[in-house]
Amino acid sequence: MSEFLKYSDPLELWISTLGVYVNRELEKVCENLKNEVPQRLLDSIRYSLLAPGKRVRPILVYLGGSAVHGGSLTLELLQKLTPAALAVEMIHAYSLIHDDLPAMDDDDFRRGRPTNHRHFDEATAILAGDALQTLAFETLEKIGEDFAENTVSCFRILSRAAGASGMVGGQMDDMFFTRDAKRPVLPITLYGCFPGIDNEFCQRKLQKFGNSSWTSELRALESMQDRKTGALIAAAVMLGSVLAGASEEQIFSLGLYGQYLGLMFQITDDLLDVTSSAETMGKAVGKDDGKGKVTWVNHLGIQDSQKYVERLNQLAREEVANPLFTQPVPLLALLDYVAHRTH
Ligand code: IPE
Ligand code: IPE
Ligand code: MG
Ligand code: MG
Ligand code: MG
Repeated sequence: MSEFLKYSDPLELWISTLGVYVNRELEKVCENLKNEVPQRLLDSIRYSLLAPGKRVRPILVYLGGSAVHGGSLTLELLQKLTPAALAVEMIHAYSLIHDDLPAMDDDDFRRGRPTNHRHFDEATAILAGDALQTLAFETLEKIGEDFAENTVSCFRILSRAAGASGMVGGQMDDMFFTRDAKRPVLPITLYGCFPGIDNEFCQRKLQKFGNSSWTSELRALESMQDRKTGALIAAAVMLGSVLAGASEEQIFSLGLYGQYLGLMFQITDDLLDVTSSAETMGKAVGKDDGKGKVTWVNHLGIQDSQKYVERLNQLAREEVANPLFTQPVPLLALLDYVAHRTH
């Protein structure tokens, strides 16, 4: 079986090769829509979906799958995982279009260009987001009959991660966090997608997350970020592993890995909002403070936020650097890449 990428290949090669591949596949999906979709809507979908994002989430689908296949990615596995990889990127692109709207973060700049509603108009941006959300599930359906038993699990994972119990719920909390007196800590429900995984055990395991001395506000902040960013990232890794035929034990560990990584990803996003430049990020910086957002950085400060990123890095590492997986080298390398990312 020909190997597309080997576990021993540098992470940079995985990222660049898969990034090019995903872009080409996304382009094909858009091309196939051209006789069915109003031109302005299709232009708006393409504008955001094909804009130069890092493609971290689709790459994680491939990394999750290869982790249960000895760390490498065969051509066959690549093709099996692609519908899920594209679907996750579509949900992400939609979430960014809506996140930037005037009613939400009101941003003018994204992925190095004007935001969708700035380039088109608000109604078009809302509709492009709506369309991308359903297109994701239409695309996921192409995981096909060979994997019938896994198909339902995949739909459950992605819909829960993207919806009210996941990303959308986290976005809701983010919008009103400063004014929310109750500050609820809500659970992540992705493990409920698998009857064989003990949900209670999972919740106990997640207690490792925060520090026991943390205030309820910090715990609520963590819960909000677990959902607004962590859920989709965890779902990406889980989708890849499910489609690659992982055991429930492996899915559970990779889900936890994804949640730690997802939280790391949002904390580093908050850090970069303070420490980086608009040019590097392709989006405005300094906006969280200006909007009175509650973030890790304005709660813990830069140094303690960085320390927490390192702790999560360690926790995530423990989930995959164990006998359940052989050579999960790219997944481990990705942890350091995210912890020290510059954009
Ligand atoms: C930005 O995500 C939104 C967050 C969840 C922090 P990314 O940093 O992955 O954005 P792109 O896809 O590279 O543009
Ligand atoms: C966005 O978080 C999370 C989602 C889109 C779900 P942010 O609002 O911090 O993301 P940026 O900084 O605008 O990319
Ligand atoms: Mg936001
Ligand atoms: Mg935003
Ligand atoms: Mg941000």
